[in-house]
Amino acid sequence: PTIYAITPTYSRPVQKAELTRLANTFRQVAQLHWILVEDAAARSELVSRFLARAGLPSTHLHVPTPRRYKRPGLPRATEQRNAGLAWLRQRHQYQRAQPGVLFFADDDNTYSLELFQEMRTTRKVSVWPVGLVGGRRYERPLVENGKVVGWYTGWRADRPFAIDMAGFAVSLQVILSNPKAVFKRRGSQPGMQESDFLKQITTVEELEPKASNCTKVLVWHTRTEKVNLANEPKYRLDTVKIEV
Ligand code: UGA
Ligand code: MN
Repeated sequence: PTIYAITPTYSRPVQKAELTRLANTFRQVAQLHWILVEDAAARSELVSRFLARAGLPSTHLHVPTPRRYKRPGLPRATEQRNAGLAWLRQRHQYQRAQPGVLFFADDDNTYSLELFQEMRTTRKVSVWPVGLVGGRRYERPLVENGKVVGWYTGWRADRPFAIDMAGFAVSLQVILSNPKAVFKRRGSQPGMQESDFLKQITTVEELEPKASNCTKVLVWHTRTEKVNLANEPKYRLDTVKIEV
């Protein structure tokens, strides 16, 4: 099956560095299609040029987050992930039998190559641990006799699916047979995006534990430090225009 990775991304000083790290990982994964969705009113030159040279099958989408939703404490990238889902459904509307696996790959996380081997065998919805998240060294689904029976999490353990965006994959079949499943802004509390989405397409009993019954960390919720531009000149001093 093809692995579809939906990555929301937005313009900031570290964007190209993040996308470079991500492309360096994805390039080593067979049959991966990268759906890069810019949080912007148009496709940017920087990302277009970058993708053209990335050496990866890709699709370049864009949708701006409405200004009212750009606030601390509100979920990020809802519209962008939904644009990726819509593209995927559209592309497969007449070829419903093609095997595929979807996962949501934020641009700042760290992904091991083993992770892709694990998720490729997803039948419906698979789950695995995520490192450096939830105020803990890791979070993970608790597994008994091959079934998920609970969640080891540092944060809101009452969530039906107490899992980060980086902790699950969904088969294309499930995405196509649940055409209304999307990320919601309305009625979704902070941090509930993942759980609210998974609720629409699966049950806890149905989840397929990966990474040795969820005992291995193969993805890390790393976050990039805000860059220090304190010495950036107010007016351009360099005579050459440099893309960073
Ligand atoms: C956590 C989760 O890991 C994310 O999946 C979730 O979207 C996010 O919380 C949330 O609050 O909604 P965190 O590291 O705090 O992640 O979020 P970011 O990495 O800053 O953003 C998640 C993704 O959305 C990234 O790929 C980022 O490039 C993108 N993003 C972020 C936008 O497209 N627009 C923005 O304004 C901010
Ligand atoms: Mn992040």
